[in-house]
Parts: sequence; C-alpha cells; structure tokens
Amino acid sequence: MQSRGNMPVARRKVRMLCVMMMLNIFVCVLMGVSWNLRHNKSDSQKIKIPSKRFWHQHELSKTFWNKEQQRLDLLHNPIVNSFISSDSLVELPDWLNDTGPLNPCEQDYRVPTQILDYNSLPQRFQDFLLYMRCRTYPMLINQLHICDEKPFLLLAVKSLIPHFDRRQAIRETWGRAGVIANQTVVTVFLLGNTLAVDHFPDLVGMLGHEAALHKDLLQWDYRDTFFNLTLKEVLFLEWFSQNCPHAKYILKGDDDVFVNTLRVIDHLEGLSEVKAKDLFIGDVISNAYPHRDRKLKYFIPESVFEGQYPPYAGGGGYLFSGELALRLYNISQQVVFYPIDDVYTGMCLKKLGLVPEVHSGFKTFDIEEKNRYNPCIHRGLMLVHSRTPQEMLTIWPWITQPELDCQ
Ligand SMILES: *[C@@H]1O[C@H](CO)[C@@H](O)[C@H](O)[C@H]1NC(C)=O
Ligand SMILES: *[C@@H]1O[C@H](CO)[C@@H](O)[C@H](O)[C@H]1NC(C)=O
Ligand SMILES: *[C@@H]1O[C@H](CO)[C@@H](O)[C@H](O)[C@H]1NC(C)=O
Ligand SMILES: *[C@@H]1O[C@H](CO)[C@@H](O)[C@H](O)[C@H]1NC(C)=O
Repeated sequence: MQSRGNMPVARRKVRMLCVMMMLNIFVCVLMGVSWNLRHNKSDSQKIKIPSKRFWHQHELSKTFWNKEQQRLDLLHNPIVNSFISSDSLVELPDWLNDTGPLNPCEQDYRVPTQILDYNSLPQRFQDFLLYMRCRTYPMLINQLHICDEKPFLLLAVKSLIPHFDRRQAIRETWGRAGVIANQTVVTVFLLGNTLAVDHFPDLVGMLGHEAALHKDLLQWDYRDTFFNLTLKEVLFLEWFSQNCPHAKYILKGDDDVFVNTLRVIDHLEGLSEVKAKDLFIGDVISNAYPHRDRKLKYFIPESVFEGQYPPYAGGGGYLFSGELALRLYNISQQVVFYPIDDVYTGMCLKKLGLVPEVHSGFKTFDIEEKNRYNPCIHRGLMLVHSRTPQEMLTIWPWITQPELDCQ
C-alpha cells in the first residue's frame, strides 16, 4: 500500500475539487437559511410607520403636575423644538399651547377649573398651585462679595426669620466662617419673608441689625412657607450661579441640623477629581411614592401628582459640588415646581441622569438614643438631625477638642 503522502497528482486534484464543491454547497445552504431567518424576522417585526406623530401617541396625564411636566418635556424636546422654531406646518398638539397667564407670576386662573377637587384641597395646596409658575422674586438682602475668596465649602442654611438663636448657634459652632482645617468656609442663611397676613410680628428692624452685624443673610421677598421651600432651593441655585459659581462644594441643610464640618472637609479632601465633579451625597430615600393620607405633612393629592418619586436625599442636609449646582440650576428650568423641595431636587438630578449617593454619615432620622451623648460617635458623623441651639453648643467641643481620645 502506498502511503497517502504519495497519492498520484491527478487523484489529489479530484479530491480537492470535491472538497471545494462540498464547501461551496455548504456555504450556499448556510446563506440561504440565514437569509430566510432574517427575512422571516423582518416580516414579523416590520417597522410600522406611525399614523400619528409621537406626541399624539402618549396619553396626556390627568394629574396637574404631570400634565405641566409633559408640556415642558415636549417643549424642550429637540425634535419638537426644531418644528416650533422652523415655523413648519407640522401640526403640534393643542395641549402644547400654554393657556396660562402670560406673566408667570400672576395668579394661575386655570388651576381652579383644571383640578377637579381644587376647592376641597388644603389651603397650602391652593396657595402653591396658584403661584407654582413664579420663579422670580426680588432680593431684599444680598451679600455680593461673600464669595470673593473662592470658598472650598459653602454652607447654605435654610432658616426662617424668627430663628435668630438657631443662626447664632450655627455661627458659633459648625457654621463658623473663615479658615477651618486649612480650607475657606463661607456660611449663608437663606430667608424668605414673613407676611403680616400670617400674623408675624414685625422683625424687620432686628433682621436688619443681624444682617449688618454678620453679613451672612440672603433674603428674598416671598412668603416663607414649607411649600415654598422649592422656590428657596431654586432661588439659591440662581444666586449661586451669579454670585458664588467657583465655590468647590456646597452643604445645604436646615437650621436644626448639626454638621460635623471637620469630617465633611476631610471627606471632601479625599475625593478624586472624577468623583468630586458630580458629587451629590446624603441620606438617600429610594422607591418612595407620594403620601395619600390627608393628615400627613407630606400629603399629595391624586389630582396633583401621580407616579413614583426619583431617589432623593432628605432635605435635612446634603453635600454636592459647585459644578453640579450650576447644572442643577440650568435643568431646574425644565422641571415643574413640586411642593416638596428634596423630591424636587431628586427630579432635577434624574433629569441630569444622576443618582444621589447614600452616605451613612448623614443621619437625618437621628442616631440611636444611647449614642446621643457619645462624643466619639459624633466625630464619625457628617450630619445629624435634629439638634437645638444648646445641643449644638454642647456637641461642637466634642468635635474640636484635640485632647479627646477616640483611638
Ligand atoms: C395654539 O397656538 C397656535 C399659535 O398661537 C394657534 O394657532 C392654535 O390655534 C392654538 N391652539 C389652541 C387649541 O388654542
Ligand atoms: C494649608 O494649606 C497650605 C496651602 O494650601 C499648605 O501649604 C499647608 O501645608 C497646609 N497646612 C496644613 C496644616 O495642612
Ligand atoms: C409662596 O410665595 C408666594 C409669594 O409670596 C405666595 O404668593 C404663595 O402663596 C406662597 N406659596 C405658599 C405655598 O405659601
Ligand atoms: C446651561 O444651559 C445653557 C443652554 O441651555 C448652556 O449654554 C450652558 O452651558 C449650561 N450651563 C451649564 C453649567 O450646564
């Protein structure tokens, strides 16, 4: 027998031909099968040319906030926008027309008729809804040069005019402005106004004195209520963009929280550039829905809002970057005001494609009772809610005393 290697040349050629032909057939069959597969697939998944424009397909929400937001979303949609600005003959949906008053700060006359249960809603909702679209109020007290020395950390404290003692306690403790831990810290207190119709005594003189003495008050002329906290938030972001845009970080909190400023600065100094840019940390609440129990402070009627809340950091206090604050102010123009300020900030973050990050050092629901007087526990915290002015003065030395040994 001859070995294979010595096969005559002619026979070898025939064999090669056969193999090639087989291969060809195989490839042809494969192609046919796959073409068939693809063909069948595209038959069943054929792209349907819509008979209606895409803005007609989605049903318009029945709840007031969602409907207003749908309109804003559509107006800021680049495709729709190009139709609007190009004066084309494309028919836009009727509901895209803003039928409210031309001046957004005039009472919105549509509200009582568009919200069926308007007359039975709690007064604070009626107040909120009537002026929900107004975002401009004059400043009564400003501090134009407070950020001249670019702060590393800006402490922005939501306060109310009568809370003189809380502000003073903050100035003497965690909100002490100046150079702290080798970083520039600036503190501002955010105030609205007290109206005589709400039976407030006249505090203008005392406030003027405080403003002159400490030069750390920012005040706008609107009625300072719980449901106007979103307004406070956006007015602050506007002020920040205009007066303090180079501050590296912002801690925004209530005047009844205790902040461990040293721990906060320490945390911030340890951040990488990437992490620092989009920083937004706090006590994050996820998967929340609006409360439907009328007796609750956070009650939201079904006729006003439907849907899930985005993840949001509890408004007691959260920490974010100055760069992100500028973007938040920008995007807030595209988000309809919501009566709960921290949920609103969550909505703005969501629109930016960001998610607030949980940090276990933010205790907006307080710490365990047994740790309340433990100095070392407090050294590890970033923020705790709530504390009285006297408690703040008690806790601050725990943070700053070098002789305290927490190993
Ligand atoms: C919407 O506004 C356009 C332009 O102002 C107008 O032509 C149209 O009639 C309005 N539609 C409704 C339903 O008001
Ligand atoms: C404080 O900051 C300055 C300049 O940034 C630096 O030179 C100095 O070493 C810092 N001091 C401490 C104690 O960190
Ligand atoms: C918010 O402030 C404006 C301006 O003072 C006022 O008209 C409105 O009623 C306030 N809203 C609430 C919910 O208090
Ligand atoms: C804000 O938006 C405007 C245009 O809408 C854009 O030019 C600007 O760069 C934005 N600023 C920030 C900080 O995102």
